[in-house]
Amino acid sequence: MYPQTGPPPTYPGRSPYPDGHAQPQYQTYDPGYPSEEELEPYRPSIVGVPWSVFLAWLQQAWAPGQHLAIIGPTGEGKTTFVVGILGLRQWVIALDPKGEDETLAASGYIRITSLPLPGNLRNRIAAGEPARIVVGGPSRTDAEKAALQRLMRDAIQMVREQGGWTLYVDEFQILADVRMFGLGKPIEELLISARRNRSSVITSFQAPAWVPRASTRQAWGTLILPTRDINMIKSVAESMGRSWQELASAIKQLPQFHGLFIPKSIHAPMLLVNPPQVD
Ligand SMILES: Nc1ncnc2c1ncn2[C@@H]1O[C@H](COP(=O)(O)OP(=O)(O)OP(=O)(O)O)[C@@H](O)[C@H]1O
Ligand SMILES: [Mg+2]
Repeated sequence: MYPQTGPPPTYPGRSPYPDGHAQPQYQTYDPGYPSEEELEPYRPSIVGVPWSVFLAWLQQAWAPGQHLAIIGPTGEGKTTFVVGILGLRQWVIALDPKGEDETLAASGYIRITSLPLPGNLRNRIAAGEPARIVVGGPSRTDAEKAALQRLMRDAIQMVREQGGWTLYVDEFQILADVRMFGLGKPIEELLISARRNRSSVITSFQAPAWVPRASTRQAWGTLILPTRDINMIKSVAESMGRSWQELASAIKQLPQFHGLFIPKSIHAPMLLVNPPQVD
């Protein structure tokens, strides 16, 4: 289903830059997926859970200040999974560096293109009402591009200062890339400091090698979506303290749009989940 060699996946949708230079030249090396025989001895411990049961579990287990990492090739359902779980959180900021991610657009969140937050939103939050926000605007000109970069930086800073938020960092590789947003360091610092102020950070990205390691190292849970990239599987297994062969064996059996949720506790089973489509 996935090419084993060749160029890395490209980001769909409109380029965040007016000149179309949105495609970082990442190098990938895929030595090939292990065969059935090689994986035969490894029997992963997996529990398939209906989405409602997964949400009920997450509701009590996922404490504010605990981070998640969502990893998968483009179009496999990273944003769909995250939108599905963000309903559990009252105060959500989703960073949309691509400007108009369709799944985020379908989430129904309020889009803001500048900070500080407008008064009506601040009042709602002060009254304890939920607020789910997408942060991101157009980037067709150099001025818009610079404004978008400032906006992303300000949103990260706001979460650091205020606490209590769940920040969704969609497409972390675009935000971290120094040739693009160059925000890897502030997000890494946020991952480390956010626990204290009870903010959770969810990062989603296409490969662990493309983002600062803190993203997987600091994660309380990781979701991995179907992939043939064995280096990616090894890297995720290593950061979550799991056997890569077990993880590879489990991922090989994943149907489309199903993900494996890997809890940080190495004795807990991995959970097979299938979020609903965002519409
Ligand atoms: N669990 C699901 N059930 C049904 N359809 C899904 C599911 N997850 C994703 N899809 C479909 O795949 C498309 C891409 O999903 P999504 O935007 O969540 O992927 P992504 O991994 O975030 O992709 P990108 O790299 O483009 O951001 C969606 O528009 C939706 O049609
Ligand atoms: Mg996405």
